[in-house]
Amino acid sequence: MARQQPKATTIEDWIRSDVYHNSFLIPQDPILEGTLKNSAANGLPDIAVSTSQGKFLNLQARSIQAKRILEVGTLGGYSTIWLGRALPDDGELITLEVDEKHARVAEENLSDAGLSSKCKVILGPGYESMRNLSSENKFDLIFIDADKPSNLKYYTEAKRLVRKGGVIIVDNVVRFGRVADPEESSPNIEGVRQLLQYMKGDKVVDATTIATVGQKGYDGFIYAIRN
Ligand SMILES: C[S@@+](CC[C@H](N)C(=O)[O-])C[C@H]1O[C@@H](n2cnc3c(N)ncnc32)[C@H](O)[C@@H]1O
Repeated sequence: MARQQPKATTIEDWIRSDVYHNSFLIPQDPILEGTLKNSAANGLPDIAVSTSQGKFLNLQARSIQAKRILEVGTLGGYSTIWLGRALPDDGELITLEVDEKHARVAEENLSDAGLSSKCKVILGPGYESMRNLSSENKFDLIFIDADKPSNLKYYTEAKRLVRKGGVIIVDNVVRFGRVADPEESSPNIEGVRQLLQYMKGDKVVDATTIATVGQKGYDGFIYAIRN
């Protein structure tokens, strides 16, 4: 079959495409909309995962029947709510956040979503908080979405804390294609490159990058399974 010729696209085309698909697959959600409104009203930056990415995280957690989830980088708890909703009644989610205001707003939003009993926000630097967690009680899924220069540190701790067959997801690893562009450099880009370089020789996980394009621009997740 002949390949379709690509047409030049703009980010507006991809936003429209994301909204179009979401209109069939993801119902309007007053709780999640309220989370974003409350976060904006409190001056939090608009850097949560997109709607479709949040749903993807939820589906991933459900597909492995995750009972314990760890998140690094809470912001106002938008992704936390998507992940927290995937948990069974006796499930637990721990989310790590360094910024006091972000943690407070996330707690408000989690309470509004009825998830306070399952989802606990730990205030403090993510790496130190991870190091304080025991590897006796492993996690099924770990989502890394905090400061990008620390990606490798979070990833090595995540390997210690995730169960065999468990999943590690790292956000913002494509960055409009700039991670692969030799002309580009910044601490965030270098944080991703350092992680990729380390993962190249790492036999403990199998991984791939899933590029995403939509409401939040051109970006992507690393999706890894611990062997
Ligand atoms: C991209 S946002 C997280 C978005 C959130 N996961 C979502 O999709 O709704 C990154 C968050 O990581 C937090 N952060 C930055 N450095 C951190 C650190 N060293 N430890 C823990 N959290 C950190 C920021 O304050 C910010 O709230």
